[in-house]
Amino acid sequence: MPAQDDRSPLPKGRFAMLNCLQGSYSEDIRRDVREGLSSGHKSIPSKYFYDSRGSRLFEKICGLPEYYQTRTELSILENSAAGIVGNFRKGDLVELGSGANWKIRALLDKVPETDLPHVHYLPVDVSESVLLEASEELLGIFPDLKVFCIVGDFTKPIEYIPAGCEKLFVIFGSTIGNLTEQEGCSLLKGIARCMGARDRLLIGTDMIKPKDILEAAYNDSQGITSEFNKNILHVLNRELHAHFNPRCFDHMAFYNPEEEQVEMHLQANRRISVEIEELDMTIGIRKGETIRTEICRKFSRTGIEKMAGQSGLRISRWFSDPKEWFCLTELVRWSA
Ligand code: SAH
Ligand code: AVI
Repeated sequence: MPAQDDRSPLPKGRFAMLNCLQGSYSEDIRRDVREGLSSGHKSIPSKYFYDSRGSRLFEKICGLPEYYQTRTELSILENSAAGIVGNFRKGDLVELGSGANWKIRALLDKVPETDLPHVHYLPVDVSESVLLEASEELLGIFPDLKVFCIVGDFTKPIEYIPAGCEKLFVIFGSTIGNLTEQEGCSLLKGIARCMGARDRLLIGTDMIKPKDILEAAYNDSQGITSEFNKNILHVLNRELHAHFNPRCFDHMAFYNPEEEQVEMHLQANRRISVEIEELDMTIGIRKGETIRTEICRKFSRTGIEKMAGQSGLRISRWFSDPKEWFCLTELVRWSA
């Protein structure tokens, strides 16, 4: 079990935190940014959006009229949470990329109160600040719940997940779509290795739909997604003593139908040269050149089946909305 974080104001015995990124974060960001910005097609991994400002901006995105994903997934949960929870009365509820953890509440609401003391909620996220805030709220709402937070990067082995009891894994929000096909499969394979015959994984995926709806969701009229996109430059300026001027970049998001993904980029609106002190490097960026900051893959049922099959998992149940804009898929181990 994770060690107790002594600095935490959260209730001892009901709350603990393990930081698996301590020490590796600064090495990771240096390597990722050096590699990503040295390549012919410049990119920065999207996990670097999420400092506390980035997490807050993402929460604002979730409420935007154009961003249908959050409300659609919540509506599916409203209708299906009881069926999803089923007989899960005791064990670990593990959420990867938990963020503000609004959605898990729909599942926890369906666990009978007398069983809640036997349920351990394990949120895993790269953002320590979001984990702390969200846990505090959750512990207030569910006074019998135990929360063990893990500050971790799920693109690395998830060896911190304790073995032994029944598990329900969840990845909400189509966060799996922010990983490449290969990264997504390797995450699912890692989860499959932690799963016993009775364990389940629930993944939320945004489905392929008309281009105008997809593009509007990433180009909102209030400019919040643009702020979120540019926040990655503030993170680089702070963490690597870089000198990016966000005004030199424009937000760009479009649907790439061949790759079945929305891509977010930052496009330079003039020719610039940026010093990154911690990397001892200066990069030149041409006017019109872009830095890709995120891929948001969109799925079909066939695509989900293929991803599951490649990861040693099979689909046991689907939950969707009437328009099939979003899907929650329940997966179990092939051998189960
Ligand atoms: N599950 C929530 C939040 C989705 S936003 C929802 O459905 O609304 C994506 C979350 O995943 C953020 O909180 C971000 O900090 C986290 N995240 C992104 N990349 C990650 C990574 N590689 N490892 C762990 N967490 C990550
Ligand atoms: C967290 N993730 C699933 C969001 C998405 O839609 O891919 C992140 C996001 N990027 C721009 N808007 C929202």
